[in-house]
Amino acid sequence: MNCIDELAPRLTLPLVAAPMTGVSGPDLVAAACRNGVIGSFPTHNAGDVRELDAWLTHLDTELADGPAAPVAPNLVVHRTNARLQDDVACIVDHGIELVITSVGSPVPVVEPLHAAGCRVFADVATLAQARKSADAGVDGLVLLAAGAGGQTGAANPFAYVRAVRSFFDGAIVMAGGVSDGASLLAARVLGADLAYMGTSFIATEESLASPGYKQALIDATMDDVRLSDQVGGLPASLLAQWLDERDAGPVASGDFQQDRLVGNQIMWSAGHGVTAVDEVLSVDELVRRVRKQYDEARGNLGSLAVG
Ligand SMILES: Cc1cc2nc3c(=O)[nH]c(=O)nc-3n(C[C@H](O)[C@H](O)[C@H](O)COP(=O)(O)O)c2cc1C
Repeated sequence: MNCIDELAPRLTLPLVAAPMTGVSGPDLVAAACRNGVIGSFPTHNAGDVRELDAWLTHLDTELADGPAAPVAPNLVVHRTNARLQDDVACIVDHGIELVITSVGSPVPVVEPLHAAGCRVFADVATLAQARKSADAGVDGLVLLAAGAGGQTGAANPFAYVRAVRSFFDGAIVMAGGVSDGASLLAARVLGADLAYMGTSFIATEESLASPGYKQALIDATMDDVRLSDQVGGLPASLLAQWLDERDAGPVASGDFQQDRLVGNQIMWSAGHGVTAVDEVLSVDELVRRVRKQYDEARGNLGSLAVG
């Protein structure tokens, strides 16, 4: 059963403003949701559960008086996340409709969140992880494909979406390199219900990223993106400029630790879609631009010269 049919009337695009450590805060999320785009943020961007409570209260108020896409907190479900249970309780108290899990098995949170009427999407970096999370009863899978910003997998997005669609009839969110309306439409054509857009939202006025980081994105192309496990211990797409300037020893692959991730909030990460970032926009402007491109791409489909 795919929950997208329920969500679709509140969306103006099949899009999620992806959760990003040190980037996604209440202003970005509120602006995304007001524009009909699911707004996600990692709960650890709020310093503690009291701040998380304050952020969710603020978002409730901000979004109360008009149509809005759902707010989707992102929970790192790795065993080293000491505040996981407190964050789940806070999310349940706020009647949140959708949660996205990352870095680990969603099993510990599926039951309590489902009992509270909350949908659960889990991000997955391999086919094996996708099957395990599907078996755990999640409502959606976020496919972390090659070239996505942040921690990601190595699978080609074309092959990945098609492979998961063959056994999973829940919601599929494609993540990786979606930076404009044409790539968003391509994700839909592949069989994804939604796509993540992360990198493009870093260079928005509402993001928590520093001016230097936003400028670095404008200056960079996909050739400046390196896959490295130096932050958090899992492969992540990082800007070469930041990586080269950083004086840090390598971290053993697979040695993820939640506090190391949170302690590195200033990491300059970007996906291959960084080539499309050419200026700092407001979230309103970015969504308007993507919507126009999406409509144009749909219109162009009928006039393709071949096929
Ligand atoms: C700076 C940065 C921080 C990120 N932090 C998180 C995070 O805390 N939790 C998470 O689930 N994904 C995180 N991601 C991954 C994004 O949610 C998403 O998968 C990715 O940005 C999508 O690819 P794109 O950047 O090509 O659009 C991060 C990505 C970036 C660029």
